[in-house]
Amino acid sequence: MGHDKLRKFAENETFPCLVQPSCGELLADGYFNLRDHSLKGKWNGFFSNNHPLVLELGCGKGEYTIALSERDALRNFIGVDIKGARLWKGAGYATRNNLSNVAFLRTRVEFITAFFAPGEVSEIWLTFSDPQLRSENSRLSSPLFLERYRSFLKPGGIIHLKTDSRFLYEYTKAVCMANSLEILSDCADLYSSRNPDLSPEIYEVQTFYESIFREQGYSIKYLAFRIDHEGGYQSPSESLFDPVFWRNTEGDRQIFGHDTAETRRRKLASSK
Ligand SMILES: C[S@@+](CC[C@H](N)C(=O)[O-])C[C@H]1O[C@@H](n2cnc3c(N)ncnc32)[C@H](O)[C@@H]1O
Repeated sequence: MGHDKLRKFAENETFPCLVQPSCGELLADGYFNLRDHSLKGKWNGFFSNNHPLVLELGCGKGEYTIALSERDALRNFIGVDIKGARLWKGAGYATRNNLSNVAFLRTRVEFITAFFAPGEVSEIWLTFSDPQLRSENSRLSSPLFLERYRSFLKPGGIIHLKTDSRFLYEYTKAVCMANSLEILSDCADLYSSRNPDLSPEIYEVQTFYESIFREQGYSIKYLAFRIDHEGGYQSPSESLFDPVFWRNTEGDRQIFGHDTAETRRRKLASSK
């Protein structure tokens, strides 16, 4: 492991807002019988208030979680990601700036039910999640994951999806249709014209990947829906969502690794 990563991991141990559960404890009774974490049902105590709780799943470096929290002191925000070196950035910022309504949780989203009790969470953001073109059960908006979210989302709780991926957007809409989930907002090109019905933060706060994809000219899609639903969730039939067709329409993405924004702009300009 690189020296820089080791330094970040060591510093992560000092951030009070970063929760890093031990995988061994979580999985002590097996993958299908996760042990509850001690914070499950107790996040009010962690934040010392009973404000609504908002999660960002796959938050990366946490810019979006941080920006939302800075705009709204009356809600608590938790960014979840598996990558410690990415969380280091958001957790460090929150610590240095004494942000009291932010936390970060280092875990796989697959284990999320071990951390939140029924009715504990008000909203979930899925921001630029990997579309997982070949593995439905790895998609963060699949029926399998919606089951998990339903176990702790308040009745009427909302899921927001922001993505550059037509595949993931069409798939998620098809999941909503297959399960008669209420779609609250649906924009195929968020920035083409401003929808006055949407909360300003949806336009004014952008994630790290969102800004990269916008620079490259991809349209950003936004979907908000509720998962109030009795019974099991169904996968969409092929008439609602044809994975082969949508896979073929999905182009490659250039992320440019660790490049700075300026280097990225230069490379993009020269590749056009
Ligand atoms: C494309 S990045 C998006 C980061 C951020 N949301 C943004 O828009 O800038 C996807 C992030 O999701 C995280 N991720 C993907 N699958 C995950 C999983 N199953 N559990 C936890 N994190 C996951 C990755 O580590 C990565 O940081």
